[in-house]
Amino acid sequence: MLKRFSVSLEENLLEDFDEFISHRQYVNRSEAIRDLIRKTLVAKEWQVDKQVMGVISLVYDHHQHKLQEKITEAQHDFHHQIVASTHVHMDHDNCMEVIIVRGNAAEVKKLADKLIALRGVRDGNLAMSSTGVDLH
Ligand code: NI
Repeated sequence: MLKRFSVSLEENLLEDFDEFISHRQYVNRSEAIRDLIRKTLVAKEWQVDKQVMGVISLVYDHHQHKLQEKITEAQHDFHHQIVASTHVHMDHDNCMEVIIVRGNAAEVKKLADKLIALRGVRDGNLAMSSTGVDLH
């Protein structure tokens, strides 16, 4: 059921918000506010160590000594947290590995930190998402 509430904002802040909304292609303020609230709730899920879902992405040079082996080992150590992974050979040197993870936030972060810190990983990211269970 939808509930309405009104919000008071400084004029400048509202202008900035409307600019943000149009850049992000929201159709209206309500949808933008709903998403911002959900984002805050998802961040909270990670803070309080709930069950979460996320995506780890890595870009690395597969010629780096033993790197592929270390990446595989880390994933086997955390196999309970891994839902799926995909490897893309992007060019002669560079690989991208995308790993979908699910588990308690601290464990998932530990795996991401371990992978991202490996020598030879040129770019690493953890996209922190949600199981959706407590989001509406
Ligand atoms: Ni590759």
